[in-house]
Amino acid sequence: MKKRVLSGVQPTGAIHLGNYLGAIKQHIEMQDNPDFECFIFIADLHALTTVRDAKKLKGLTLDVALTYLSLGLDPKKAIFFKQSDIAEHCELAWILSCVTPFGLLERAHAWKDAVEKNKKEKTVGLFTYPALMAADILIYKPNLVPVGKDQKQHVEITRDIATSFNSHFGNTLTLPEDFIKEDVAVVPGTDGQKMSKSYGNTIDIFAPEAILKKQVMGIVTDSTPVEDPKDPSKCHVFTLYKLLANKDEIADLESKYKKGCFGYGEAKKILLAKILEIFAPARKKRIELEGNLSYVNSVLQEGASRAKKVASETLDEVRKKIGTRG
Ligand code: ADP
Ligand code: TRP
Repeated sequence: MKKRVLSGVQPTGAIHLGNYLGAIKQHIEMQDNPDFECFIFIADLHALTTVRDAKKLKGLTLDVALTYLSLGLDPKKAIFFKQSDIAEHCELAWILSCVTPFGLLERAHAWKDAVEKNKKEKTVGLFTYPALMAADILIYKPNLVPVGKDQKQHVEITRDIATSFNSHFGNTLTLPEDFIKEDVAVVPGTDGQKMSKSYGNTIDIFAPEAILKKQVMGIVTDSTPVEDPKDPSKCHVFTLYKLLANKDEIADLESKYKKGCFGYGEAKKILLAKILEIFAPARKKRIELEGNLSYVNSVLQEGASRAKKVASETLDEVRKKIGTRG
């Protein structure tokens, strides 16, 4: 029996190196593993907790679709779709919210953060975000949910909600496991904090070269003089390079740091060249796909019809258990 894998990414901003290394890369690699059956979706309804502009949401959704397809997602191998195309997620989210203790969602990091920092608008949608995420997951009964470390709690909440549903209505929903690759669990941004759209510290893999260069050259470093030896383990440039380069390249850069007479500016140029080298094929493919949007849309439609089959089966089972159907 194949293990089912499911994950989603919100269309809330340009895709950055953290999204790629922490999530997207794993999603695409898993499609090639014959032991896995992959469902990958664009969480456009979740994005509504922050994006309130139809044109922008449409553009960002297309951006995520182009990102996955240009980085190698193969729609013949993985089921790739848009969350809002499967209305079943929302019905299940409501049903699950009725067996979700209020306190469980009050303890969610994203909600607590919004309350403490008072930065994000505290909507009901933001509060119930984990219940919709639980529905996204549970409706496909996956075994594994590959995500970055920041999403671990959401998968734990999903398990709690599934347990609550099963204890009220009988065993129906499968408890999923998170799948987190430790070495890329938290990719640092240009300021050393977690790379995140919301911190403005990203390296955007599809940005025009001039912007990419500005972002890489803007990585914060210490003030060790050029001629002095430097400690690579304390440098964000090196940390990022380690996530991208091969063993020999890493050893080479490490020795340059340790020898001295090597400035951070040079290290940044080496990192930039590596990023451009790695993403060159995807950047090229993306331009091709931008000229063939009808193909991109047909992939999402086909993905939606395959996903809908699975989602509606689970929802029917749930409806019978709760007494709204048959
Ligand atoms: P952001 O923090 O920029 O808003 P998202 O929350 O949309 O990013 O994250 C999309 C996916 O990318 C999630 O699975 C998340 O765990 C992963 N991810 C985001 N930033 C990082 C990072 N800095 N390191 C590792 N994974 C990340
Ligand atoms: N909350 C996830 C994020 O911010 C996106 C997401 C929504 C998701 N539904 C999901 C991820 C279901 C995995 C499974 O990245």
